[in-house]
Amino acid sequence: MNREALEKAYPDYRKYITKIFDFEQSHIFKWWDEITPSGKRHLLEQISSIDFTLLQKLFREHLDPASGTLQKNIQPPHIIGIPENNEGKKLAETAKRIGEDSLRKGEIAVLTVAGGQGTRLGIDGPKGMLPLSPINKKSIFQLHAEKICALQKKYNTPVPWHIMTSETNDDDTKEFFRSNTFFGLDPQRVCFFTQRMIPTVDLNGKLLMDTKSSIAMSPNGHGGTILALQEKNIINDMKKQGIKHIFYHQVDNVLIKMADPVFIGYHLRDKADMSSKVVKKRNPEEKVGVIVSLDGHLHVVEYTELSKEDRYAKNNDDSLKYDAGNIAIHIFSIAFLEKLFQMETYLPYHIAIKKVPFIDKKGNLITPEENNAIKFETFIFDILKHVQKSVVMEVVRKEEFSPVKNADGDDSPATAQQDMINMFGRWLQKAGIAIPMDSHNNVAGHIEINPCFAYDEEELMKKVDKGLKFNGFLNL
Ligand code: UTP
Repeated sequence: MNREALEKAYPDYRKYITKIFDFEQSHIFKWWDEITPSGKRHLLEQISSIDFTLLQKLFREHLDPASGTLQKNIQPPHIIGIPENNEGKKLAETAKRIGEDSLRKGEIAVLTVAGGQGTRLGIDGPKGMLPLSPINKKSIFQLHAEKICALQKKYNTPVPWHIMTSETNDDDTKEFFRSNTFFGLDPQRVCFFTQRMIPTVDLNGKLLMDTKSSIAMSPNGHGGTILALQEKNIINDMKKQGIKHIFYHQVDNVLIKMADPVFIGYHLRDKADMSSKVVKKRNPEEKVGVIVSLDGHLHVVEYTELSKEDRYAKNNDDSLKYDAGNIAIHIFSIAFLEKLFQMETYLPYHIAIKKVPFIDKKGNLITPEENNAIKFETFIFDILKHVQKSVVMEVVRKEEFSPVKNADGDDSPATAQQDMINMFGRWLQKAGIAIPMDSHNNVAGHIEINPCFAYDEEELMKKVDKGLKFNGFLNL
């Protein structure tokens, strides 16, 4: 398509059309004469939303990455460990009281990030819609909703729920909530907001198209939360409701201890800007980022960035030196986020080389078998660089972290279900109920406990019939 003709025909988009040609991306107009007027409008709207200068800079950085000697001065961070003695237990109890007090005052909002594309899982639709609970096959969203409902009842307070979606799944997510009458929650207290999208480019930096009138875009990573909170003025809405801190988690962790009062309590006690939960890394080669201390700040070192020497470094007691596995559960203080917004800091983009469907020169949709595309993503933990005060709290993995990432194998729906059953089994055992285990040390049978019946082990102890006999199936 001819540049002058386009600029003349669409004067409102002139500067964007100019950019397309200046940045050598004019192949996106290849099918211009074939596409419908609404397709044309869509494409023009898309190009007006793209920051081409940034895109070019990111692609150049990818070709010429800065050499990474970053991790030279790392140290293990200070961690609040799992309480092992009376002193630790007393501290945790005090923290819990502080956290519960804050919950009762209505100072805490929950934020779930659910804007990802779930490509590894490969289901059609948002990950949160996956039917997952062991017996009733409740969706992940419903599991989270019921926990929030239980918290509201327990602390007699509203707990607003903010869910970040992206253009790829916003409509489906909202429709799912509507058609399930918000799982009993007050729709006024469930707020959806979308993150920004960024184009996906091929390995030569050219924009990929997913239809003849649409540039392939992907969400800008979970770090996009920060920009979205700012751009959509969500912080102000939260402040008006008296919210002071945000409990942040990822949609795919089915064991999430929603708005854990102990965690909130430590965060408040230490007047932290941002706090993080960690679990012990399973072994030196587990592909998980670890929280370390670097030049006076906390920092997440990705698995690939940690030198072999550091990956295998040990303490005197033979435990791993860098074992604080980041599980993406955080608390942000609103006062800190406001300071951050004023600083106008932007999170850096990371690069992922992926397989992304695209249309080829003939206009056919191709699903590639090899990596063909570069996606750009920001990560929430990069904020740590700006954090002055922080809490890192270790928790037991099998009690709090079981993400659904893959269709099968590790971190899949099957492991998530089993982890839920096993956790409920342990709660029942602590309450004195005999629960048989199989040869893999999994509960022999199925258990599901509704958080509105018992939110945690403590509540279950109080409510469960001590004479209960487990016959391989229990739906409480
Ligand atoms: P992952 O990085 O595991 O991505 O996101 P994903 O979309 O779930 O799965 P893959 O990598 O495509 O297979 C971790 C969490 O961050 C959210 C996801 O929804 C998930 O809760 N996320 C990720 C966003 O909200 N936005 C993004 O741009 C990326």
